[in-house]
Amino acid sequence: MSYPYQITSYEGYQEAWKKSVEDPEGFWGEVASHFQWKKPWDRVLDWNFKEPSVQWFKGAQLNITENCIDRHLADKANQPAIIWEPNDPNDHHRMLTYAQLHTKVNQFANVLKNNGVKKGDRVCIYMGMIPELAIAVLGCARIGAIHSVIFGGFSAQSIADRLQDANAEFIITCDGAFRGAKDIPLKNVIDDALISCKFVKRVIVYTHTRSAVSMIKGRDVWWEDEVRKVETAGNPDCPAETMDAEDPLFILYTSGSTGKPKGVVHTCGGYMVYTNYTFVNVFQYKPQEIHFCTADIGWITGHSYIVYGPLSAGATSLMFEGIPTFPDAGRFWDIIDKFKVNILYTAPTAIRSLMAFGLGPLQNKDLSSLRVLGTVGEPINEEAWLWYDEHIGKRKCPIVDTWWQTETGGVLISNLAGITPSKPSYATLPMPGVQPLLVDEKGVEITDNNVTGNLCIKSPWPATLRTTYGDHERCRTNYFATYENLYFTGDGAYRDENGFYRITGRVDDVLNVSGHRIGTAEVENAINMHAGVVESAVVGYPHDVKGQGIYAFVIYSGTHGDEDMTRRDITATVSRIIGPIAKPDKIQLVSGLPKTRSGKIMRRILRKIAENELDNIGDTSTLLDPAVVEEIKRGKV
Ligand code: WTA
Repeated sequence: MSYPYQITSYEGYQEAWKKSVEDPEGFWGEVASHFQWKKPWDRVLDWNFKEPSVQWFKGAQLNITENCIDRHLADKANQPAIIWEPNDPNDHHRMLTYAQLHTKVNQFANVLKNNGVKKGDRVCIYMGMIPELAIAVLGCARIGAIHSVIFGGFSAQSIADRLQDANAEFIITCDGAFRGAKDIPLKNVIDDALISCKFVKRVIVYTHTRSAVSMIKGRDVWWEDEVRKVETAGNPDCPAETMDAEDPLFILYTSGSTGKPKGVVHTCGGYMVYTNYTFVNVFQYKPQEIHFCTADIGWITGHSYIVYGPLSAGATSLMFEGIPTFPDAGRFWDIIDKFKVNILYTAPTAIRSLMAFGLGPLQNKDLSSLRVLGTVGEPINEEAWLWYDEHIGKRKCPIVDTWWQTETGGVLISNLAGITPSKPSYATLPMPGVQPLLVDEKGVEITDNNVTGNLCIKSPWPATLRTTYGDHERCRTNYFATYENLYFTGDGAYRDENGFYRITGRVDDVLNVSGHRIGTAEVENAINMHAGVVESAVVGYPHDVKGQGIYAFVIYSGTHGDEDMTRRDITATVSRIIGPIAKPDKIQLVSGLPKTRSGKIMRRILRKIAENELDNIGDTSTLLDPAVVEEIKRGKV
């Protein structure tokens, strides 16, 4: 397959962008015509940001798995769809061709049906990075069930919250997951979550780590047994459910500035077209190439650029179970060498952590197969960008700095590999169909260049989030109400003299820790649940490897002889309530927090302290008790 909509020159990009803005319906209608639809659309786009209501390809019918699998069987049946590299390099890797993936997804779709899962049901998936995770996701999509994948670093409590929010009655998990030297007992975590979720009817458990699990009669079944039943029945094929373009495909929970994560909803048609279009254009994918996205499928990057984007494009997607530093810091380079990877898509935090090991781990690793490098998840600092360029790309591989969000479904701002210019630490130019703009605090558009502002988007792209599950009003107030008729990203950006965008980071109370989004309010809620904690305030601070670290100021009234012990207890509580990914890096016990007379915590001051800008705290005269600032400064950890 070649891609008629692949942009091949800078002029081509400019033309495509212009057309997409002048005639979005004509532009996206043309792109969408290259997919497999069961019924064509009545209208390409219908929208208003007021409600908001965004509908792409209304009236069209399709099944995304036919586009990701079936349509490739004619010419790619024996091409690997998924290559899987295990955590332990001594274990065997696996390859699933498109034909094999087809069989497995069909079988598993039938397993879901046999277990009572129906179109529209929410299915929670909590698994490690194994091919069965992709099979589970696609199996849901095959029958029109809405998947909600939860990253393995979330706790039982977080899972329970998400199960309740989505009213998910079905769970797919495995006994455990390997991550580096750790063996994470996923099924045990699910069992803890289910204590408060009696509505869950079925848990399907895949055997991976062979750790002991308890299987509850009537509720829990083994994946392997269920597949065998389907095999014995003799007809593994499962017809792809007919879905409306605007039927939900999945829910993915993400953190915002309020305490409760939001279930971002993406739909079948627009999300498919947009993830495919951006995959093909940003990475300039060429048929047969091996694409290695190091993200976890528990995050949007894995959904869009391990599963749906690459597979809908008939690509070979490499999935890695482990972590970049296990068994040593040369692991990524071993994998690239072993499979002759062509595209590496990773996060700045991974690059920075590998940089710290020096060039030793790169010795004798053949990286010459690499053609394109990508980064995502947080602003990439210039030093990391240059290291990536020099030592990994050997100055021959374009680097795409892709800016986007769970809510945007796919990349919104990025250079196109080798086609449009790159600039270190700049995401550069918008994708066709995307109209970014900067506004000031009052929402007035800033039209000059060489300015900083709040980043908004003027009109919908096909993978715009459609709603937040079960609470549309929340979607409106979070994204579409800050500035009238605009989608507000929550990010700040700088625009240079050429109109290139550099994302400067979140302007709301959301942290970006190792590329993971974490709301400060969520961490505060978790800390406040610890006995003895009176109040807390959480801010981010610059962290060499993680990008941002979590700094918690805590008023603690419990009896504590040993402050270290108290800090450890608080950390354990956060781990229990949210998950290990949200553990504070620093906890400072304080007797008070800087508050205004109306009782509002002055985070600006705490941020300065956390950033170690002790002489640059600014005006404290409006504080109820300015002395508390001096005390906090003295006690800085
Ligand atoms: C940040 C991840 C700078 C940004 C795909 C955004 C970035 C948040 C970049 C979304 C980038 C993502 N440069 N910042 N290239 N990519 N971000 O929802 O703050 O996990 O709002 O989606 O990550 O994180 P999320």
